[in-house]
Amino acid sequence: MLSVKKVVLAYSGGVDTSVCIPYLKKEYGVEEVITFAADLGQGDELEPIRRKAIDAGASDSLVDDLIQPFIEDFAFPAIRANALYEGRYPLSTALARPLIASRLVQVAREIGADAVAHGCTGKGNDQVRFDVAIGSLAPDLRVLTPAREWGMSREETITYGERFGIPAPVSKKSPYSIDLNLLGRSVEAGSLEDPMTPPPEEVFEMTSSIDEAPENPQEIEISFKDGNPISINGESLDPVALIRKANSIAGIHGFGRIDIIEDRVVGIKSREIYETPGLLLLIKAHQEIESLTLSADVLRLKSQLEREWANLVYQGLWFSSLKHALDGFFERTQSQVNGSVKLRLHKGNAIVIGRCSDANSLYIPDMATYGSDDEFDHQAAKGFIYIWGLPSRIWAATTRKKKN
Ligand code: ARG
Repeated sequence: MLSVKKVVLAYSGGVDTSVCIPYLKKEYGVEEVITFAADLGQGDELEPIRRKAIDAGASDSLVDDLIQPFIEDFAFPAIRANALYEGRYPLSTALARPLIASRLVQVAREIGADAVAHGCTGKGNDQVRFDVAIGSLAPDLRVLTPAREWGMSREETITYGERFGIPAPVSKKSPYSIDLNLLGRSVEAGSLEDPMTPPPEEVFEMTSSIDEAPENPQEIEISFKDGNPISINGESLDPVALIRKANSIAGIHGFGRIDIIEDRVVGIKSREIYETPGLLLLIKAHQEIESLTLSADVLRLKSQLEREWANLVYQGLWFSSLKHALDGFFERTQSQVNGSVKLRLHKGNAIVIGRCSDANSLYIPDMATYGSDDEFDHQAAKGFIYIWGLPSRIWAATTRKKKN
């Protein structure tokens, strides 16, 4: 038995985190379990979740609406960073974890808890993200991780829960493990564990299939200010409304499905299905407005740093020195990222078809044109190329000599 009196448990309403409540009390000897659930726009009703925690033995059940900070302080930085883990996954789940962790720590402080807890298993990424974030924010707080230690199968977990009045999941036969929030859904397990099996249509909720998507394409225009998306089709929207709108437009056209083999922090490869329509659309548009407004060398370095940033966030290092330093670099670049991007959505595709920036375009028509108002000095190219190619010619000549 641990000598822990009061624990704040990160709570989703699912079986694992529900079973954590009696488990912490019976097996760990915790006196009081207070649950904390974050509303991240997942669309679940929160009152039933609150009730569920109380029914499972929680002495209090807190629910907090974190949608706005989630989008403003986590999703928008990811858009500015064009963050795609392994070039493809826009981190919809990963971005939520440091926010939940920091609220968890805050609640623990407010109510004088001596530990926090989460229901992550021992082979996922989320345990890493929670543990590292909590450790950085509150090194003195204990982190209890029953689901990592109890060694029960899913069936055994359900049976254990039933002993304490935790109802078996309604969709006992739904084989999938799902995580969702306003940015998207992640689906694993069941038939998806065979990487060659195509995802059945039933796993998708935010995006239409190619068959159901409208026959007619739709053009949209997304505008950016300081690297943040601010309007869609000329309508100014606050960050949360903008993500909702992007989700709905992209989702209707079946854009934003991802089917990948992904490298987890704990060293295993897993097959992941995501649908993140709005976030992917906004990253695509953001990349495009940057290509117009940032210089070639900044773009080149930024794209390398973007990959680093995405790795850090995926690997649970949101609160880290390197992440902090990269944020500083990105911030300096984004003041120039202003303008609009036009895209055509059609049958699972979002194709860029135009871009403009009044204040920050580095595209100079008189330099680019092949017409009569061309101002580029063609003669200057000759001397430039002589010097540019000098090292190559010297190297080639030397290697030729050695061969002869
Ligand atoms: N593989 C994704 C990630 O690491 C999704 C994880 C989903 N989490 C979950 N508890 N089902 O970000």
